[in-house]
Amino acid sequence: NSPIDTFIRAELVSFACDPGDNDLPQPGSLEHYGDGLLWLKGSHVHAVGHYGDLSYQLPSDAHVIDYRGKLIMPGFIDTHVHYVQLDIMASYGRQLLDWLNDYTFPEECRFANYAHAEALSNAFLDEMLRSGTTTAQVFGSSHPGSVDAFFTACQKRQLRMLVGKVLMDRNAPDPLMDGISGIADSERLIEDWHGNGRLGYSVTPRFAPTSTKMQMDAAGALLRNDPSLWLQTHLAENSGELDWVAELFPGSRDYLAVYEEAGLVGPRSTFAHGIHLDNAMRKRLADRGANIAFCPSSNLFLGSGLFDREAAKETGMAFTYASDIGAGTDLSGFGTLKAAYQVGQLGGQPLTAWQGFYGLTHGNAKALSLDSYIGQLAPSYEADFVVIDPNATPLLTRRIEHCTTLGERLFALMMLADDRAVYETWSNGQCQHQRD
Ligand code: GUN
Ligand code: ZN
Repeated sequence: NSPIDTFIRAELVSFACDPGDNDLPQPGSLEHYGDGLLWLKGSHVHAVGHYGDLSYQLPSDAHVIDYRGKLIMPGFIDTHVHYVQLDIMASYGRQLLDWLNDYTFPEECRFANYAHAEALSNAFLDEMLRSGTTTAQVFGSSHPGSVDAFFTACQKRQLRMLVGKVLMDRNAPDPLMDGISGIADSERLIEDWHGNGRLGYSVTPRFAPTSTKMQMDAAGALLRNDPSLWLQTHLAENSGELDWVAELFPGSRDYLAVYEEAGLVGPRSTFAHGIHLDNAMRKRLADRGANIAFCPSSNLFLGSGLFDREAAKETGMAFTYASDIGAGTDLSGFGTLKAAYQVGQLGGQPLTAWQGFYGLTHGNAKALSLDSYIGQLAPSYEADFVVIDPNATPLLTRRIEHCTTLGERLFALMMLADDRAVYETWSNGQCQHQRD
C-alpha cells in the first residue's frame, strides 16, 4: 500500500532559513515558485518545485488540483495561546491582574465540566484552522480533563499540538487550585499523551504568583526526568505583576531568577511576553536557549507595554509570534503580524513581511524544536499548509493588483488579510478546513 499522491499547482512561498532584517531576503532563505507544484505522498511533502520542472515526472493520469492564483505557505504556528479563554476574548478590562480576576478565572472554572471542555476544544480548533494555524502551544485550565478533551480533538484532526494543564496552588479561586495533585495529574497526562502521534506535553505553571516554590520545583523535576517535555509560562508582562513577584520572592534577584531556581529555563521553554526585562535577563534566556513569545495584540489590549525586538536580537534571545487569546484580540497569524508591525512602529523597529512570515512558520517551529517536522514546504516535512486567496475581498483584490513584487503582496496580506483569505488549511496531508 503506497501512500496516496496529491498534486497541487499554486504559487508557493517558504523559508529555508532566516531571511534577515533587510528589505530583501538573504540569498538562499526565500523559496518562491510563482507557478509551483506541491507534491504530497500521504501525510508528507514529497517534492516542491516549479510546475514546469516537475510536471514531466507526474503519472499520466495524475489529478492536479489547480490553485493557480492562490498562494500556499507552511501552516502558521502560534507559540502561546489559551484555548480555555476563547469565550472571553474582547472582555473590557483594565490591566492584567484585574482582567485575570474579573474574567479569566471565572471562565476557567467552567472547564471542570468535560462536555464544556470538549465543546470549546472543537470550537477553538475550528477557529485556528479557519485562520490557517496548524500548530500551537496551548494552555488548558487547571482541570486535567480540559487537556484530555483538547488532545482528543487534536487527534481527530491529525494536528501537531502542544498543550498542558495549568498548575496553580495559590492566589487563585479555590476551584482552580490543584495543590499536590497538580503534579500527579500532569504525570498522568504526560503518560497518556506526550509523544502520542503528533501530540506533545508542555508543563504549564501559570506564572510565579500562582505557584508556590514547592510546585515550581516539582515542575522542574518533571522536566529533568524527561528532557523531551516542553515548558510554558508567563514572564514580565505587566508592572503590577513585577511588583507582586518581587514581594512574593524576596530572596530571588529578579523575576527570571525565580524560574531559573526551579529549573524551568531550558531550550524547550517558552515564556510569554518578556516585555519588562533588562539585557542581562535577555542574555540569560539566550544562554539557555529559551524563547519569549511576543504576543503583540495581547500586549496592546491589556496595555502591558511594547516588546523590544531589537534588544532581543542584540542579546541573541529567541522570540516567537503568538496570539495569546483571550487577551489577544486576533486568532489569525495575519492579525498577530499586523499588531507586531504596529508595536514595532511605535518603537522605531519596523517589521518586514519576510521577517513576519518567516517568524510565523519556520522561526516559530525552530524555537519550539519542531523544525525538523513542520514550518517549511520541503521534501520529508509534514504536509501542514495554508492555501491563501489573495482575492478574498474586493479590497484585497484592488490592493494586490497594485503590487509589483512578492514582498509588497506579502506585506499587504500581513496588514489586510484575515480568515476570509484562508481558502483551505491542510494538516498531515489532509484538508481540514475549507472556506467555501
Ligand atoms: N499571566 C498569567 N496568566 C495569564 C493569562 O491567562 N493571560 C495573560 N495574558 N497573562 C497571564
Ligand atoms: Zn498567556
